[in-house]
Amino acid sequence: MTLLPVTAPIAVAPMAGGPSTPELAAAVSTAGGLGMLAAGYLTADAMAAQITATQQLLSAVDSDTALPFGINLFVPETESDPRDPADHEAWEVYRNLLHRDFPDVGLPCEPRWSDDDWQAKLRLLTTDLHVPFVSFTFGLPRLGVVKQLQERGTTVGVTVTNVADAQAALELGVDVLIAQGIEAGGHQSTFTTAEPAPTHSIRELLDKLRPVLSNAAKPDTEVTVIAAGGVAGPHDVDELIAAGADIVQVGTLFLTTDEAGTKPVHKAALLSGEFEDTVLTRAFSGRLARSLVNQFTKEFTAVAPAVYPQVHYLTSPIRTASAENNSPEALNLWAGTGFVNCQELPAGVLVRWLASKAH
Ligand SMILES: Cc1cc2nc3c(=O)[nH]c(=O)nc-3n(C[C@H](O)[C@H](O)[C@H](O)COP(=O)(O)O)c2cc1C
Repeated sequence: MTLLPVTAPIAVAPMAGGPSTPELAAAVSTAGGLGMLAAGYLTADAMAAQITATQQLLSAVDSDTALPFGINLFVPETESDPRDPADHEAWEVYRNLLHRDFPDVGLPCEPRWSDDDWQAKLRLLTTDLHVPFVSFTFGLPRLGVVKQLQERGTTVGVTVTNVADAQAALELGVDVLIAQGIEAGGHQSTFTTAEPAPTHSIRELLDKLRPVLSNAAKPDTEVTVIAAGGVAGPHDVDELIAAGADIVQVGTLFLTTDEAGTKPVHKAALLSGEFEDTVLTRAFSGRLARSLVNQFTKEFTAVAPAVYPQVHYLTSPIRTASAENNSPEALNLWAGTGFVNCQELPAGVLVRWLASKAH
């Protein structure tokens, strides 16, 4: 039994930075899947506004049945400001390199760190707001947070890229494991910024998780498994479900749906047929993330330091200028390996297509 009552085993990935919208989450939940919002890079107030808007859209569709939806939070690496002098130095070297190529873009002179309004978001989710599902990325929340959420009837999930992190999440008592393979678009949910790139494809990770899950599972506390990474169509969904996933989380294919808030230049790049490959890169944020290969990833992937979120804030004006100039070449074009199948269509149609082979 899953705590996430979906009729189509498809979740839209939470996609921070604009693509996730209340309209997208509501369209996916309305189609029988799991709609997800992304709290990453939002203030706590902006997060609350998105939750309320999603609840309003869903209750307009069906006020009797509470359709499930969720929100995803980025866990800050430490809850105190971790400005390390070595990080500062690496940041400065990278800043100077970027300044050489982008002399006219006003780059920040000092590194900026933030905890992404973590405490305020948690306070809202454990007091004023009730969201059926809360998932965490980049680490584990504290045990007390998991318990508080569960006591309020919230299902709690953690995104993992390897077995050790999955075990740590299970020990914490989470209800859902989101297994993320290396094919996934956007950031890899490693628990620390500087660790080496994950190595497991989503199929390998599901294979490795199977014994861990069967040891951990007790009849009354079965863990729901959501699998993510590189889905290009219904055949992949079917395979991942056969390999043990309860729900398949898809990001990239939803980027070009009507309800997504994806930047037009990003959508156009995905649909253009002009991009051939993706790469795992720290160039845009300091954390590993999969993007379409463009001029920026070619030039900076080899030299970008593992300093997050300071590098995210450093490249922000470059990315903004690239989008404003309608150029995809210095923009973070997050994309998973299945991006060639992106199409412009309503999200509900995509949910039904993806679920069409799943039994
Ligand atoms: C544009 C974009 C933004 C993303 N933002 C988040 C996020 O905020 N939180 C998160 O847990 N995962 C995020 N991801 C990763 C997804 O959760 C998921 O692992 C991935 O999209 C699955 O692979 P696919 O894109 O190949 O379908 C993002 C992915 C993309 C493409």
